[in-house]
Amino acid sequence: MQNQLLYQQVAHKIEESINLGIYRSGEKLPGVRRLSDDFRVSIGTVLEALYQLQNKGKLEARPRSGYYVCEQSNHLPEAIRSSPQQTQPKTVSNQSTALFLAQASSNAKVLNLGAALPHSDYQPISTLTRHFRGALRDNPKAVSSYEFPPGFLPLRKVVSARMLNAGIRFNPEQITITNGCQEAVTICLSVVAKPADVIAVESPAYYGLLQCIESLGMQALELKTDPVTGVSPAILDSALKRWPVKACVLSANGNNPLGYITSEENKRELLKILKTHDVPLIEDDIYGDLPLTGTRPKAMSAFAERQRFFYCSSVSKTISPAIRIGWIASYTNNEELNHAKFLRNIATASIDQIALARYLSTKSYDRHIETCCIHYANNATKVRQAVGKYFPTGTRTTHPQAGFAIWVQLPRTIDGDALSYACLSKNIGIFPGKLFSASGRYSNCIRLSCAQPITSNVIEGLKNVGNIANSLT
Ligand SMILES: Cc1ncc(COP(=O)(O)O)c(C=O)c1O
Repeated sequence: MQNQLLYQQVAHKIEESINLGIYRSGEKLPGVRRLSDDFRVSIGTVLEALYQLQNKGKLEARPRSGYYVCEQSNHLPEAIRSSPQQTQPKTVSNQSTALFLAQASSNAKVLNLGAALPHSDYQPISTLTRHFRGALRDNPKAVSSYEFPPGFLPLRKVVSARMLNAGIRFNPEQITITNGCQEAVTICLSVVAKPADVIAVESPAYYGLLQCIESLGMQALELKTDPVTGVSPAILDSALKRWPVKACVLSANGNNPLGYITSEENKRELLKILKTHDVPLIEDDIYGDLPLTGTRPKAMSAFAERQRFFYCSSVSKTISPAIRIGWIASYTNNEELNHAKFLRNIATASIDQIALARYLSTKSYDRHIETCCIHYANNATKVRQAVGKYFPTGTRTTHPQAGFAIWVQLPRTIDGDALSYACLSKNIGIFPGKLFSASGRYSNCIRLSCAQPITSNVIEGLKNVGNIANSLT
């Protein structure tokens, strides 16, 4: 007890009260302020303790209501600890199944348990509808024309204001609007590297990033990545000493699929190493606004010191993937970035840019994000509990800190591809681990998502995946 951090001590005491039946299943815990007074700790410490208990399946947060005691059945699987060894740069060529799986799992008949996109219940559809109507009504001229790069100025203004939350300050002139984050990253790569160049990425890596690298004919260098803390400065340093890396793409806040948030100390150290080797950072911060606990983490770019970096994000995970809007923010190469965007597809849809600018200017976005983060934290625990209950013995999962991906490591004998096809034949969509590697790793892994309400149907689906996995052992 003595060596525990303060929030762990508070969590331990609350858990004891739950185990002793002082707080019973379904009961609401005293408010955060009251707990902070009772334990004589800060509100931040109480929130951290409550999040720990949420992760252990002891508590559930309900938006705008408080924390409630869950049914005490604890089936949480152990956390993934291992990370694979460093490989050498690889040409990406195994990504052809991604579109097939994406199409198959978006079929209405398929229960989609793997796709990392917010369920329509978690998208502010009625508010957006209002803003789209307003955009058409108030801007008839603008919506009927191209909104050439860098993009709609009021949108760039509101994006630059919102990026202050991530600790980064850009003028609207330093922002290029794109068709989503994937295009943003692709454009940055095309500006800083050429075919056959080596791009350092986390491992496992978001498969869309591997596709960008594949489409540009570049090579991916998969960095050994800790599932809890991310890429370590020492690993990055030795990789940059050994290989002629031209850019490093990192997703330090809520990496997809591992869900970790890299510490500020490591963000700083990683940037120093990039600066020493003169390698630009391309940061993909698409999950930065979705921490499952605490405040929004600072972007890694916030710690950059007179070095080249590109910050990319979009609203696909926070608002809706249907609005194909993302952005690049950079102090350098702005003309090149705008020109590359223009060459790719002339412009991003004007009406989407105008409607989004309206929506992001309201407080409604902040409330929406707050609610979503609470749902995703609760859902993550429920998905992990179902995995612990129904999946083969020895299955491990990540314990995401941001975003909604859950990475599942099955026993070695189970093939994620075989599992994913067997699931599809039963109308269940999951994503096999191999997609997240350029070198055929993670064959015993799958990605699940917690971005949908965890209904009995979803639990039944997870049980079926577990049964199929058990039949493949
Ligand atoms: C890490 C990451 N980057 C980029 C994307 C693609 O984003 P967008 O839809 O904005 O192109 C995704 C979508 O899954 C993602 O997880």
